[in-house]
Amino acid sequence: MVVLAASICTKGGKAVISRQFRDMARMRIESLLASFPKLIPIGTQHTTVETSDVRYVYQPLEDLYIVLITNKASNILQDIDTLHLFARIVSDLCRSADEREILKNSFELLGAFDEVVSLGYKEGVNLMQVRSILEMESHEEKIQEIIARNKEAEAKEELKRRAKQLEMQRREQQRRAQGGGGGSYMGMGGGVTGYSPVPQRFDVPETVTPARNSSPAPSSLRPPAFKGSGMKLGAKKKDQLADALGGEIHESESPVPSAPGTPLPSAQADLARPKGYRGSIPPVTPDSIHIAIKEQISASLMREGGLTSLELKGDMNLTVAEASRAKIKLTLAPATTDFGADLQFKQHPNVAKFGEPGTDRTIALKDPSKSFPVNRALEVLRWRYTGRDESLVPLSINCWPTPSNDGTCDVNIEYELENDVLSLHDVLISIPLPAGSYPTVSSHSGTWTLNASTHSLDWSIPLVTADERSGSLEFSVGGDDVDAFFPVKVAFVAEGSMAGVQVVSAHHAGTGAEETFSQDTILSSEEYIVA
Ligand SMILES: *[C@@H]1O[C@H](CO)[C@@H](O)[C@H](O)[C@H]1NC(C)=O
Ligand SMILES: *[C@@H]1O[C@H](CO)[C@@H](O)[C@H](O)[C@H]1NC(C)=O
Repeated sequence: MVVLAASICTKGGKAVISRQFRDMARMRIESLLASFPKLIPIGTQHTTVETSDVRYVYQPLEDLYIVLITNKASNILQDIDTLHLFARIVSDLCRSADEREILKNSFELLGAFDEVVSLGYKEGVNLMQVRSILEMESHEEKIQEIIARNKEAEAKEELKRRAKQLEMQRREQQRRAQGGGGGSYMGMGGGVTGYSPVPQRFDVPETVTPARNSSPAPSSLRPPAFKGSGMKLGAKKKDQLADALGGEIHESESPVPSAPGTPLPSAQADLARPKGYRGSIPPVTPDSIHIAIKEQISASLMREGGLTSLELKGDMNLTVAEASRAKIKLTLAPATTDFGADLQFKQHPNVAKFGEPGTDRTIALKDPSKSFPVNRALEVLRWRYTGRDESLVPLSINCWPTPSNDGTCDVNIEYELENDVLSLHDVLISIPLPAGSYPTVSSHSGTWTLNASTHSLDWSIPLVTADERSGSLEFSVGGDDVDAFFPVKVAFVAEGSMAGVQVVSAHHAGTGAEETFSQDTILSSEEYIVA
C-alpha cells in the first residue's frame, strides 16, 4: 500500500493539516484536497472515492473530513484500518474535531501520524503504542524543562548569594573606613553584573523544592485522566519524577485532581434553568378560579443504586378573579404514592387543616363565612419531603462505563420513568467526558450534542411519558477512568405532581354548587445528579 498523504480538511476542501509521506508539492496536495469534496456522491455512505490517479479514503469528523490520499494499488482494507486509527488518534488528542482544536494540536497530531505511517507504509502500531511513544517524548521534554528550571533557579540563587557577599564587603569597608580613617569607599557596581555560568548539574537546589501545598491524590489511587496533548500525557511519570525529586513540580496548568467520587465544585449548580421555566409544557388558560401547583425536586442518586438524598418542595397557590366565586372549597385527590410520615403539609394560617387520615383532603377557609382574596394569588398549601426512599425517584438513570483494554471506555447510559403520573419535558442528561477526548456515539434515542464549555455529552429527550418511558445512548471515548463520567447531571420539567397533589373538584362553600376551575401543575428539577 502507499499512502501519499493523511490530511484533515474542511467540508469545502481547505487543508487544515496534512502530512505527506511521499515527495509531493504543496500545490499538488492542496489541489487534491480542493477537488475531493466535489467527488463525494451526494447522500451516500461510501468512505472511498477515486479519480484516475488517486484514491481518497475518508471519514467525516463533525464539520471536517479526515482523508487518506493513496495510490490506486494500495490495499483498501488496510487503508480503512489506518484511517480508523487516525480518527481514534484525533479523538484522543483533541477535545473536539473543529478546526481550531485541530490546529492547536497539529504538532502532536502530525507526530502521531508519523508513527502510524512511515514513507507511505503503515507501521504495525495501535493506538496504545502511539500513545506511549508520545508519552515518552513528552516525558523527555519534561525532564529537559525541569533541568532548565533548576538552572534558572540556581542562577537566581547564585545572584542572591553574590549580592549578599557584596553587601557584606561594602559594610566591612564602611566599618573600616569609619574606624581606621582613610581607605577608599568602594561603591556597588563592580562584580555584581557578571556572574559566572552556573555549573550544569542536574540536582535540585534546596530553595526550589517547595512543600506540597495542594497534596494531589497519590497516582496509584486515581490514574490520571488521559489528556489532550502529548505534552500533558506524562502526568503519571511526572508524579513519579516529582516524588523522586522529593518535591512537587510546579504546575502551570494546575489540574488539581479531585478525590474519586467528589464532584468538582462546578458540577453542582449548573444545568439549573431559570425560575419559572416551563420548556415545552403547554400553557394553561386560567379560569377565574385558577390553581397553580409547583414542585421542585433535588436528588442525588448513587451510581450503584440507592440515594444519597431526595428533597421535594411544593406549594399551591389559588387565584380567584371574580368576587362572586371567592367562597370556595377545593377537594384534593386521595394520596396515590405513599410518602409515609416524611411528607409534611402546611396550610396557610387562615386555611383549615386536613381532616383525619382517610377522609377527603380539602382546602377551605377556617371561617366558612369568609371569602378568598380576589385577584391575588394566595399560597394555600405547602409540602415538603426529605428522605432516602429510592422508590420515589421519578426518573432513574443507569450510567455504565466499561473500560476496554485499548485505553478507551464504552459507556452505556439509560433512563427510565418511574412515576407514571408525570410526563417529563425537555429532559437533559449531561455526561462529563474525560478531558481531551470526544465520543463516538454508536446508538442513541433523542438527540445529543457536545457541550464545549462543560466538555460534556449533552443528551436531550424532548418528552418522556408512561408510554415512552425509557431510552438509551451508547458511546465510546478515549480514557479509562470510569470516575470521569460522573457526576451525570439531569434537568427536566414535568407536568404533574410527584406528591400527587391535585385538585379534583371545586365547590361553593355555602351552596355546595360545583365550580369550574383551571389547574397548572409543574415539577422541575433543581439539582438532579448521579454521582
Ligand atoms: C453548555 O452547558 C452549560 C451549563 O449547563 C449551558 O449553560 C450552556 O448553554 C451549554 N451550551 C450549549 C451549547 O449547549
Ligand atoms: C405562589 O406565590 C408565591 C408568593 O407570591 C410565589 O413565591 C410562589 O412561586 C407561587 N407558587 C406557585 C405555585 O405559583
